[in-house]
Amino acid sequence: MRRMVAETRLHPADLILPAFVREGITEPVPIGAMPGVVQHTRDTLRKAAVEALEAGVSGIMLFGVPEDARKDAAGTAGTDPDGILQVAIRDVRAEVGDDLVIMSDLCLDEFTDHGHCGVLDAEGRVDNDATLERYAEMAQVQADAGVHVVGPSGMMDGQVGVVRDALDTIGKEDVAILAYTAKYSSAFYGPFREAVGSSLEGDRKTYQQDPANLRESMRELALDLEEGADMVMVKPAGPYLDVLAKVAATVDVPVAAYQISGEYAMVEAAEKGWIDRDKAILESLTGIRRAGAQMILTYWATEVAQKLARGV
Ligand code: PBG
Repeated sequence: MRRMVAETRLHPADLILPAFVREGITEPVPIGAMPGVVQHTRDTLRKAAVEALEAGVSGIMLFGVPEDARKDAAGTAGTDPDGILQVAIRDVRAEVGDDLVIMSDLCLDEFTDHGHCGVLDAEGRVDNDATLERYAEMAQVQADAGVHVVGPSGMMDGQVGVVRDALDTIGKEDVAILAYTAKYSSAFYGPFREAVGSSLEGDRKTYQQDPANLRESMRELALDLEEGADMVMVKPAGPYLDVLAKVAATVDVPVAAYQISGEYAMVEAAEKGWIDRDKAILESLTGIRRAGAQMILTYWATEVAQKLARGV
């Protein structure tokens, strides 16, 4: 009876797998703060993409981790056609074609030696407009590499419009934009810093949203839609379900939520036996669906999709 009257269901196609690929390694490197998640080699990334596809997951969100020596102030590895992220996009596209939606993180923090999402001005502050020029270039190299959807995640003002123009200019009108619309300055990103070997000291409070604010996110939403966002995202997911519900009730584009590294790590800490890991995973994802996300980025995407397919 509970199954029959359930108002919310999870389906493998709701799920998108975020994945890390690291330059210059021959074996996958486990991420300590995210048990079960690794930095992939080019080869194991291809395998993970196939595994996700076979489980019924609908998309993969790629993050590139360059060799430390390649990081610089402008994050040039992020716009190098042979940079790790572009290489990985090509690899995965060659492997799965159009069967899995290939998405890429469009942000500089993985590639800058200071770890910020943009380039800095003379006083060491993130320079919004100079960063937009870098994002335009990034969008173009990622599109050239064969990505289906770019995910600008740096929270610079005007980023969606600039990326849309940059894509259209090179004839990539069909590459879609998943806008990180309401991305909060969150303590729950902690494990991600290890995942991408981030060099950041300090925080991103000057460009990410204040956790205290909801109205501000609605303004970000209006701007992103006006600038051409095809889909919008709320991030993190669990602590921001009210934001997600309001965004979902407001827009007529697809809505995504990102269950981030710290949300993952908290539940994985259940290995201590304090909560039931498997039930907590499904409950957290069901809550995010119920609040209004059609698509959920989650590090458990493949595992959960496999379980759903088996009817577990
Ligand atoms: C920025 C980016 C971050 C995440 C995704 N894209 C880090 C940040 O903004 O600090 C975090 C994802 C996660 O924590 O799982 N490139």
